[in-house]
Amino acid sequence: MEIIRKLQDMQSRAVDMHQQGKTIAFVPTMGFLHKGHLSLMREGRKRGDILVVSIFVNPAQFGPNEDFDKYPKSFEQDADAAKKEGVDILFNPCKEELYPERYQTYVNVEKLQNYLCGVSRPLHFRGVATVVTKLFNIVKADAAIFGEKDYQQLVVIRQMALDLNLDIEIKGCPIVREPDGVAMSSRNSYLSEKDRKSAVCLYQALNEAKKLVKEGVKKSSEIIMTASALIRSYPGTEIDYISIFDPETLEEIESVEELSRMAMAVRLGETRLIDNILIDPRKKGSRA
Ligand code: PAF
Repeated sequence: MEIIRKLQDMQSRAVDMHQQGKTIAFVPTMGFLHKGHLSLMREGRKRGDILVVSIFVNPAQFGPNEDFDKYPKSFEQDADAAKKEGVDILFNPCKEELYPERYQTYVNVEKLQNYLCGVSRPLHFRGVATVVTKLFNIVKADAAIFGEKDYQQLVVIRQMALDLNLDIEIKGCPIVREPDGVAMSSRNSYLSEKDRKSAVCLYQALNEAKKLVKEGVKKSSEIIMTASALIRSYPGTEIDYISIFDPETLEEIESVEELSRMAMAVRLGETRLIDNILIDPRKKGSRA
C-alpha cells in the first residue's frame, strides 16, 4: 500500500491510473477506522481497479464548540487496517495544502443541509460538501462509498454530485453495529462506561418505532413520542432531535404512508450520537 501526502502526487497518480484504463474507487474517512469503515473499503474493492482511502480530519465541518481538536487519531493502526483490506493508496493530505491561506470557496447544498443535523450544526454540511468535492477532484474517483449511518451526509453528497454534474457513482452502505446494536462510530470512544451503556437507547428507540409502524401506527408524532420516552428512560440522555422524513427530500412527514426514514441525534455527556433506520409501512401488522 502506498501512502501519499501531497495533493499533486495524488492527482498525478490518479491521471496515470486513468491513462492505464483503470477505474478508481474511493472511501473518504476522518480516520480512527472501525469495522464500519472497513465494510466501505470492502465495497470499494468491488467497485474499482484501484482502491483509494483518504484520512483527513476536515476542520471546515466542525463548529467552533465541537470536537475538532480532540477528534481521535491513530494513523499507524489505520494504515495497518487499510493495508489488510487491500487498499492500494492511503491519501493523507494536510490542512495547509487543502485549505491554504486565502481559501474562500465553499459548496452549499442549499436545502438538504438545513434539516436534521443541520439545525444544530449549521455549517457542518457546507464543510462536508466542500471537502468531498475537493477530494473527488484530487482523487479523480469513478465511484465513492459512504456509510448510511451518516444518512443526511449521503443524501447531501448524492444531490451535490447530481447538481454539479460530477461523473461519479455514489454508493451507500448499511450501518455496521456493535453486538448490542450501537452503531459503530469513531466518537463512541469518547463515551464513559455509564454513557456507553445508555448508548443502546438509540437503536432500541428506532426498533421500537419500526415495530409500531409494523403494527399499523402511522402518526409520526405518536411514534416520536414513544421513541423519546424510551430514550429518556436511560440515564444521561439528552435528545437533540428525532425526525421521521422523506428519504430523498429529508422533509418531515406527518404520517408514515410510504417508505420513510427515521433519524435521531442524542447527547450523552459531551458526546453527540446519531443513528437512523428505514421504516417501511408496507410490511404491516393489524393495529389501525
Ligand atoms: O463521514 C466522514 O467521515 C466525513 O464527513 C467525510 C465524508 C470523510 C468528510 O470529511
